[in-house]
Amino acid sequence: MTNEFEGAAALAARFPTGFTWGAATSSYQVEGATDADGRGRSIWDSFVNEPGRVVDGSNGDTAIDSYRNIAGDVATVKSLGLNSYRFSLSWPRICPDGDGRINPAGLRYYSDLVDALLAEGITPWVTLYHWDLPQALEDKGGWPVRDTALRFGDFALIAHTALGDRVKHWITVNEPWCAAFLGYASGEHAPGRREPAESIAAAHHLMLGHGLAARAIKSADPEATVSIGINFYPVHAASDAPGDVDAARRVDGVQNRWFTDAALRGTYPEDVVEDFKAITDFDFNRDGDLETINAPIDVLSVNYYSRFTVTGNGGSASASAAPTGAGSAWPANEHIGFVPAGLPVTDMGWEIEPAGLTEMLTRLHAAYPEVALAVTENGAAFPDKLDEGRVRDPERLDYVQQHLSACADALDAGVPLVGYFAWSLADNFEWAWGYTKRFGLVYVDFETGERTVKDSGRWYGDLVRRARSNREAE
Ligand code: FCB
Repeated sequence: MTNEFEGAAALAARFPTGFTWGAATSSYQVEGATDADGRGRSIWDSFVNEPGRVVDGSNGDTAIDSYRNIAGDVATVKSLGLNSYRFSLSWPRICPDGDGRINPAGLRYYSDLVDALLAEGITPWVTLYHWDLPQALEDKGGWPVRDTALRFGDFALIAHTALGDRVKHWITVNEPWCAAFLGYASGEHAPGRREPAESIAAAHHLMLGHGLAARAIKSADPEATVSIGINFYPVHAASDAPGDVDAARRVDGVQNRWFTDAALRGTYPEDVVEDFKAITDFDFNRDGDLETINAPIDVLSVNYYSRFTVTGNGGSASASAAPTGAGSAWPANEHIGFVPAGLPVTDMGWEIEPAGLTEMLTRLHAAYPEVALAVTENGAAFPDKLDEGRVRDPERLDYVQQHLSACADALDAGVPLVGYFAWSLADNFEWAWGYTKRFGLVYVDFETGERTVKDSGRWYGDLVRRARSNREAE
């Protein structure tokens, strides 16, 4: 029988002192209590009520009840030995109409959560936007409309004013690619619109919102660590055929360069601009916007799950779309298809390639040497079963181990990697997949809410304890 903690000591020793060890969640996926205490509606509250949008017909009304269970969530983070927890703020819980009217009860929840974490020595990493736009702003046009970015800048200041005395790590926007292109091009995510040209305006305004938020936080607290979270994928051409090579350039451009170049260089990549010109005249990009977007940030937050192989000959329009009738998430690139490379896959059908994480971290550091990097999401869904009080999830344990080893390889190569957050702390509402996909280190019985740490969570906790005691004792 193999020792389940095999390799943990050696792996732990590869991480530096002061490394951030965490797990991540997001507001709509865990909080529930969507009607409680003056919270406004978000686009996800509306979307889940439209028939056919979520594969199991479920919603986030209860989720895993985090709004009512601060003590339980903090105890879970603590039981894993983590020194950090990444969660997001529900914008409509704090600003029910998306404007300057504040709901004090909403702010109090996050303030209490922050206090409870700090009391246990756990550092909060707060994401300002993880996809739950106030419905009131969607009613006025949503992210394709410029005003939404301005309102987001205001919201960042409201959040920082309330929490900034205690919260020092801020992530502005989580995965603008998903918010723009799954929300407004394919329609797989809320608000479910299929308007390819508008989705490019949405992407721009998400970045403008990022820039405004980053500047608001930095001017209020120059010591704060500010970041943006982007989902990165190594992209391979299916063959040497020119159409496939061009498809790889296009997908890499949108996924790996569009948002990052804007944030860190203040430019959009020329080749992608040319591609997008087929469907938009960019009239939403006003003078000065890219300077605003190019706000100084400290950390680039890397969300990494998988890799892509693409062709220029159509086929599957997405590597991961839910079977909810979504259109293409690739505006101006609808001819591109995603093909399997034959690697092992998770329950999402996402191919597992740990070396791709080292590759992305090394590449990002070479391209943007001025920022530190943190892995702010990494994890895998598998169909877990609770069996006499235990969840045996060797595939997830392997996944986390191999990706941490990939992080250590990046550290060895000189990448300034400051942290790792597993996605997710606990099983939760996985967007269009509802409760059918389990990503947690902790199993949740969705009927009773009961939590059970999975084998992968015990392994990760053991690794973190070893790393922290090795290093913190030095
Ligand atoms: C990421 C999201 C996160 C979760 C994981 C599986 O794209 O940021 O909320 O859904 O995927």
